[in-house]
Amino acid sequence: MTSPHHPTDFLHDLRLRSAAEGGVFWIDDDQLAVFEPNAARRVSGANWQRLVMHDRLVDMIRRRPSTPVRWSRVRTAWLTQLHRLTTGEHNAKLITRMEQIIDARLGEDVDLVMLAQDVAVRSMLPVALSGLTPREAAQIGRDLDQKLIRLIDRHPGDGLRHHLRFVAVQIRAGLVVRRVLRERASGRRARELDLADPVVDMLPELGMDRALDVVTSVLTAIGGPPGAAAASTLYEFARNPEWARRLGAELRGVDPADFCAAPTKAAPVTHRFVKEVLRMWSPPLLLVRRSRLSFDLGTTRLEKGRGYMLSPHMIHRDHRFWQQADTFDPDRFLPGAPHGPVGRGYYVPFGWAPKKCVGADIGTTQLMALCYLMCTRYRLTVPDAEKITMVYRFAPVPQKFRGRLAFA
Ligand code: HEM
Repeated sequence: MTSPHHPTDFLHDLRLRSAAEGGVFWIDDDQLAVFEPNAARRVSGANWQRLVMHDRLVDMIRRRPSTPVRWSRVRTAWLTQLHRLTTGEHNAKLITRMEQIIDARLGEDVDLVMLAQDVAVRSMLPVALSGLTPREAAQIGRDLDQKLIRLIDRHPGDGLRHHLRFVAVQIRAGLVVRRVLRERASGRRARELDLADPVVDMLPELGMDRALDVVTSVLTAIGGPPGAAAASTLYEFARNPEWARRLGAELRGVDPADFCAAPTKAAPVTHRFVKEVLRMWSPPLLLVRRSRLSFDLGTTRLEKGRGYMLSPHMIHRDHRFWQQADTFDPDRFLPGAPHGPVGRGYYVPFGWAPKKCVGADIGTTQLMALCYLMCTRYRLTVPDAEKITMVYRFAPVPQKFRGRLAFA
């Protein structure tokens, strides 16, 4: 979010301007909003085509370019690992980790935004980076926590002391990642089935700095959107008792292994519910990018080096593309529903190729599992749920969203 204004107002202004100006308009001298679905797809596709990683530090020291490594290789390696990680056994482990985190908080009056974040991030951490000692996991966890506070808190703290502490925690987390990669490469630590592991084989080409960047990008990716989506799922679950009942009726007869493998077939109501949560409340709200090339977008030109913004949220709430765009109704995803998506490219909660979220499937599985646990293992009580409102930070965040969980 780049505006000095309150983000909720900023987003509201962007929506009005987007509707008035056809989705592509200059926000200021340096930022082009690209909220029109076809333009967003084209810009993303062209901008990231043949993306390579350079090692700027090595380039500067050696005064000659390092070996470029194609980003698509990293993505392919991630997708291969994720394919191996989405078996029945691994999904069951993911759900068990989620249960353990919730079980520890049963009976307390909890901040459900922070609980949702904890459940989503800590259960997903081993997918990104596993085999950590408790101390290492705590160091990585502290860094993820402080970054999250920056993203969701209006007053995350400032001043030099705060900044230095932030940097120190970030450096310590970086040292953990470096040590893990180094020790896996030298055989002093076991190789693991996680998203960091392919980087070990690529270390000779990447070098440690770029390797750290790759692992950090996964940690950043699991540190924000999955938890925000989990909080929004709990929010809609608490506010829509009728939907909670429908989900319960479906999920009580389903084996989690089945909905993990085939969500639409095994638990269609729950899958529609999760899809609608991701339409209404897509995190992150704005993807801020810099153009690597010049583009002609018909009404305007985006020159190389200028900034642009994409936003699944803006597309999902655009009344030109979605009937009753601001109404929560999972049944819009029933085939042939009049208020359903008007075509491909209008429902984009995981972004655009070739940078589209690699965790889309496992992220969806996790949200379905959260619904499953809320319906089968726990009972969620939220006083005055209908009064809870959403505010816009990096993602939509329910305000004063507190409640209690007990065993069902
Ligand atoms: C419901 C949960 C999630 C949502 C809504 C979400 C959403 C997104 C979005 C919008 C992007 C940017 C795409 C673009 O630039 O066009 C992204 C990127 C990414 N996501 Fe997710 N994500 C989720 C879960 C996950 C999970 C669980 C993982 C890892 C296990 C993950 C890994 C990534 C990575 C690595 C990228 C960067 C891809 C690249 O730069 O090539 N995400 N995600």
